[in-house]
Amino acid sequence: MALQLGDTAPNFTAETTIGKIDFHEWLGDSWGVLFSHPRDFTPVCTTELGYTETLAPEFAKRGVKVVGLSVDGVDDHERWADDIEATQGARPKFPLIGDHDRAVSTAYGMIHPKADNTFTVRSVFVIDPNKKVRLTLTYPASTGRNFDEILRVIDSLQLTDRHKVATPANWRVGDDVIIAPSVSHDDARRLYPGGWKEKRPYLRFVKQPA
Ligand code: BEZ
Repeated sequence: MALQLGDTAPNFTAETTIGKIDFHEWLGDSWGVLFSHPRDFTPVCTTELGYTETLAPEFAKRGVKVVGLSVDGVDDHERWADDIEATQGARPKFPLIGDHDRAVSTAYGMIHPKADNTFTVRSVFVIDPNKKVRLTLTYPASTGRNFDEILRVIDSLQLTDRHKVATPANWRVGDDVIIAPSVSHDDARRLYPGGWKEKRPYLRFVKQPA
């Protein structure tokens, strides 16, 4: 069965561009983003990996480690990094897994045979410091992902882990948030003495907690 939210992210050891890693050990207490791309030396993947590297300070600010994967070998990843740097202005410093035996792809369900029998689709897994899967995304090979959206979801997850709130459609850091439905009005009065904007009893907006 496909990995589901709340499942423990399977551990593995793998060859990467920074050497062999034990995934859980490498993650340590950090959040993680594990993402696959179909093939090295392909156009969409080249843009995705370059853009992800430009976001390195944003991932670091949120305590997130990023690791990419394809079924190509680490030697190919290294050679391809030259092209990514030359064309995208950023050379991936985050590790890239060389999953030539498809062990990681299989454990994470990254190969969708009806889309492609050999290569991974564009999967994303956000993993929290308890090693639980908190977000899964699957994109087709022909569509590059929106990595800003992955940061946005991490912002929401980290906020909603700390406070009893949820984030509305298209929420961005600083926008008002929703008081979680599990919070009674009595509890909400204690938590938000300044009050809230109530559109419906179940739809209560407050300023984003600090
Ligand atoms: C790409 O990265 O451009 C790509 C990879 C596999 C299939 C289609 C596009």
